[in-house]
Amino acid sequence: MNRREFPRRRKKLMDMMGDDSVAIIPTSPVYIRNRDVEFPHRPDSDFYYLSGYPEPEAVMVLIPDRYHGEFVLFCRERDEKMETWTGRRAGLEGACELYGVNDAFPIEDMDDILPGMLEDRERIYYTMGNDSLFDQRVLGWVNQVRKQVRTGINAPDEFISLNHLLHEMRLFKSRPEISAMKKAAKISCHAHKRAMEVCRPGMMEYHIEAELLHEFMSQGSRFAAYPSIVGSGENGCILHYTENNRQMCDGDLLLIDAGAEFDGYASDITRTFPVNGNFSKEQKQIYNIVLEANQEAIKEVKPGNHWNDPHDVAVEILTEGMLSLGILKGTLKSQIKEASYKKYYMHRTGHWLGMDVHDVGDYKLEGEWRKLEPGMVTTIEPGLYFQPQHGLAKKWWNIGIRIEDDVLITNDDNEVFSKDAPKAVDDIEALMGASMAA
Ligand code: GLY
Ligand code: MN
Ligand code: MN
Repeated sequence: MNRREFPRRRKKLMDMMGDDSVAIIPTSPVYIRNRDVEFPHRPDSDFYYLSGYPEPEAVMVLIPDRYHGEFVLFCRERDEKMETWTGRRAGLEGACELYGVNDAFPIEDMDDILPGMLEDRERIYYTMGNDSLFDQRVLGWVNQVRKQVRTGINAPDEFISLNHLLHEMRLFKSRPEISAMKKAAKISCHAHKRAMEVCRPGMMEYHIEAELLHEFMSQGSRFAAYPSIVGSGENGCILHYTENNRQMCDGDLLLIDAGAEFDGYASDITRTFPVNGNFSKEQKQIYNIVLEANQEAIKEVKPGNHWNDPHDVAVEILTEGMLSLGILKGTLKSQIKEASYKKYYMHRTGHWLGMDVHDVGDYKLEGEWRKLEPGMVTTIEPGLYFQPQHGLAKKWWNIGIRIEDDVLITNDDNEVFSKDAPKAVDDIEALMGASMAA
């Protein structure tokens, strides 16, 4: 990320917070996977958005108009022995030099130093509820300041969640953010194509996951944005299936929902294709309904439309398609009203996308679906999932299809970041056919 982004974001946030306030933003805790083994550290998105600081065990404090500097960081000190075991640290000096911190303190000293930074500030911006132990510490610091009122020091008496101001900022992507998201989507498109090319009946789902990860990492994405979903046959009907340990059979569909993370930004792309390279008649019938829903919903992603417009269009096309195949019975109007589609389409058509795969930002303002505006990025991901227990004719069983794209709202229309991942039946069959013939 362009280094100039971070001070720009901090300034914008502090301008909105106003003087008399202070913001406290911890990064993610270190999570233990099992004894002596940690999960790879991923900085908290709010924290990283404002700091660019990648190490664990850090808390940033933003103090508008503070004489000694507005950007304070509590972080790990340099430690030769620990660095030999667990990796390099920027230390206090590095935090200032590399990340633009004005004042860096050892994280161990936070309980002693931070309460003084709350003195005579009226408002604390802090998001409660993510980490109850940290919440208790923040309350403890405030209480410490309150005890000094008789000495003339005022304690903050307003707690405000940072979410409203910060998440509204994160919802609108800047140029460097859009570049990172495009790159993440481009890498993912290569990965989806590679999956189509290598897939053969008899392989395990995790063999395909390995191909996706290989493509992500070899193109500069160090981590997937979320665990890859590689679901064949009946597993395609499990929305967030991640076991990925079934042997794929001739005649199965394979649903892959996988996206690379690049420079802290997610992509989130789903493609569904036949394991043997050719759609059966029924698979193609359902696939083309979902594809039409995807394409028509994308057309609704433009400035001025409401957040729910793409979903409404997708629901109409999916319902109409199921009526035409006799899967649903009745009229289009009655079936939409009764929401009978929900048995086979139980999720919504999209969500905001950004640093988090299900990104932050309100969907409604004052009780109404908000309008789409340039700079927002959403997914469009209609699907249909038919399981044996639904009681439909056997020919529909285990058809699970989702087609998901990442879409930026531009000044007058939209831009699909994930357009290079094939999704037309002919394009998928041609790509798979060519690789099988080679
Ligand atoms: N990959 C999760 C989702 O599509 O929302
Ligand atoms: Mn999604
Ligand atoms: Mn997805």
